[in-house]
Amino acid sequence: MDKIRIHGGHPLSGSIKISGSKNSSLPILAATLLTREQCVVHEVPDLSDTHYMLQILMHLGAQVERASGTVSVTAEKTQSVAPYDIVRKMRASVCVLGPLLGRCKEATVSLPGGCVIGDRPIDLHLKGFEALGAAVRVESGNIKIFAPKLTGTVINMQGRLGPTVLGTDNVMMAAVLADGLTVIEGAAQEPEVVDLANFLNKMGAKIEGAGTRRIIIEGVRALHGAEHQVIPDRIEAGTFLVAGAISGEGVTVKRVNPEHVRSVTDALAACGFPIDTADNAISVWPNGDARALEIKTDPYPGFPTDMQAQMCALLSTSHGTSVVMENIFPQRYMHVAELKRMGAQMRLEGATAVIDGVDRLLGAPVMASDLRASAALVLAGLKAEGITEVSRVYHIDRGYERLDEKLSELGAHIERVKEV
Ligand code: EPU
Repeated sequence: MDKIRIHGGHPLSGSIKISGSKNSSLPILAATLLTREQCVVHEVPDLSDTHYMLQILMHLGAQVERASGTVSVTAEKTQSVAPYDIVRKMRASVCVLGPLLGRCKEATVSLPGGCVIGDRPIDLHLKGFEALGAAVRVESGNIKIFAPKLTGTVINMQGRLGPTVLGTDNVMMAAVLADGLTVIEGAAQEPEVVDLANFLNKMGAKIEGAGTRRIIIEGVRALHGAEHQVIPDRIEAGTFLVAGAISGEGVTVKRVNPEHVRSVTDALAACGFPIDTADNAISVWPNGDARALEIKTDPYPGFPTDMQAQMCALLSTSHGTSVVMENIFPQRYMHVAELKRMGAQMRLEGATAVIDGVDRLLGAPVMASDLRASAALVLAGLKAEGITEVSRVYHIDRGYERLDEKLSELGAHIERVKEV
């Protein structure tokens, strides 16, 4: 097992290019199951999560080729059973349910297990499939879905904690091959949902309204092959912008859609960091005395839950008392105890973190517990005095392409070492 060792206090400067979006790539790769023809997807990031997805597609019978960031998938035939062994490694495996149901009219996929960021039910996905006419059973840890025929209908995907991203994706992927019109009300508006809809439309689907709360899908008889370039990863971009704010002398992220990271750049600006935005690049500049902030996570276009941990790392040394409210995954605070080991002053009150900014952090051995929490610990390590060692780096490798190498290109003193 690898760990990442950071010698703190070396400011970052320069520019890096953002990779393709993990959370777009996963459902887009799953969507290739909807056709017998070849699909070619560019800018797929080289991550363990995208590897898992390709393994699932191969298990289901697809032919997969991967060269650099380009992946070609041909699912001439597909079977409809994805067992526990193959799906347990990644919760996002659930997004093969929609395409399998659309194409095969049946699917058996192992139910995703627990998740460190909290309870992650899939009731809304299943409710959506049932509304399309499918029968859903949970049996021996598997979800079994069967529908002799899918029929378009009106489905509300709004949950207690907001709309569901992968739920919206799943229902959209099943509905493209349903009979008639499907209207998804309370749809997730995330850019990754729009990217998937654009890909499906290139495959011959008829989807309108992606990016709004109402998506309208006119079912078609069959989809064909398509070529697509995945959008830049807005969470990777946000993470590097926060890195630049924590410990930077001017950091530019390139290949980014500034609109997609607006809530993050607004938060950094509110902290007092000067931000420059160009067509597809954003720079963050140092400020002497970062200010405290009140933020709450919300569905897009609100502040993303996937940036909450990194923001906590920044606010741990911002001047004054910050308040962070987690509205999507109320228990997503695994980073708090570890940041406290580095000298941060934070306390949790339910789903709210209250952070009293300190003057300095001190390097420490810390343990990564999930993807974004791990990234937050690396960012804190850039700022901390002395050496920080982040173990269980496999969490980072699930969702950041070459995070340590990219930070090193920006001037961080960071290395990957084997854990003994
Ligand atoms: N929810 C339900 N029922 C459902 C589905 C979701 O109650 O059937 C609740 C969840 O518990 C949560 C809220 O709805 O409170 C939103 O969850 P959502 O379904 O939107 O999450 P997701 O689609 O499973 C994706 C990303 C996550 C990201 C969330 C929220 C992918 C592969 N994953 O998950 O990304 O945090 O949306 O934006 O797209 C990450 O990249 O680190 C990550 C966790």
